Amino acid sequence: MTTEIDPVKLMKQQVGKAAADRVQSGSIVGLGTGSTTAYAIQFLGDRLKSGSLTDIKGIPTSFQASVLAKQYGIPLTTLDDVDAIDIAIDGADEVDPQKNLIKGGGAAHTREKIVDGLATEFIVVVDSSKLVDRLGSTFPLPIEVLPIAITPVSKAIAQLGGKPELRMGVKKDGPVITDQGNMILDATFEQISNPAELEKTLNNIPGILDNGLFVGLANVVLIGEIKDGEPIVREME
Ligand code: A5P
Repeated sequence: MTTEIDPVKLMKQQVGKAAADRVQSGSIVGLGTGSTTAYAIQFLGDRLKSGSLTDIKGIPTSFQASVLAKQYGIPLTTLDDVDAIDIAIDGADEVDPQKNLIKGGGAAHTREKIVDGLATEFIVVVDSSKLVDRLGSTFPLPIEVLPIAITPVSKAIAQLGGKPELRMGVKKDGPVITDQGNMILDATFEQISNPAELEKTLNNIPGILDNGLFVGLANVVLIGEIKDGEPIVREME
């Protein structure tokens, strides 16, 4: 019996390792959320164990990131206790040619934007399926909303031309509740022609905590690909 290795998993592993290899000893590291960043966290833990990396502290962007960091032996700190974040590693749901992103597939984008946005270097780790010409073409835009404001916010999004849908739980009846106790609307827009403007317009609606548009924040995008049957990692130009 031959065991097929899932190519997407392979791309995620390679790109996660490539990002973890860029972290230097003594750094404060923003720890992103999602299946790709999970590999980066694992490889950071491996480097700490092997001694090739020392004296780092992580700032988690979610409950998931903090559980993984503890599992892999990465000491944690908080934004109250550091002056700066040296490097953040995080995944994305879509990446456009200008390195703008849609994030929030794991409902963690509000905390991710705080941590990733404070980092001196924000490295995005994706497999090649996440690359798009225009944001919003494959993935609806996640928007975190205070539960009492779900109805008015849904109407306001519809007025902007979006189709909002309340994200429902899997193996949990009812809506997804974020780490902050809020709900997520996934909004489909025909096209997002001006991500910077839409990001601000949405965040100006009372009741919205933050949306998953990350405009002008990413410094480096590492892309995991399969070339000639082998996983490779390339950096977006
Ligand atoms: C979490 O809310 C998201 O922003 C993730 O970073 C994003 O969904 C990417 O996740 P994967 O690496 O699992 O695709």
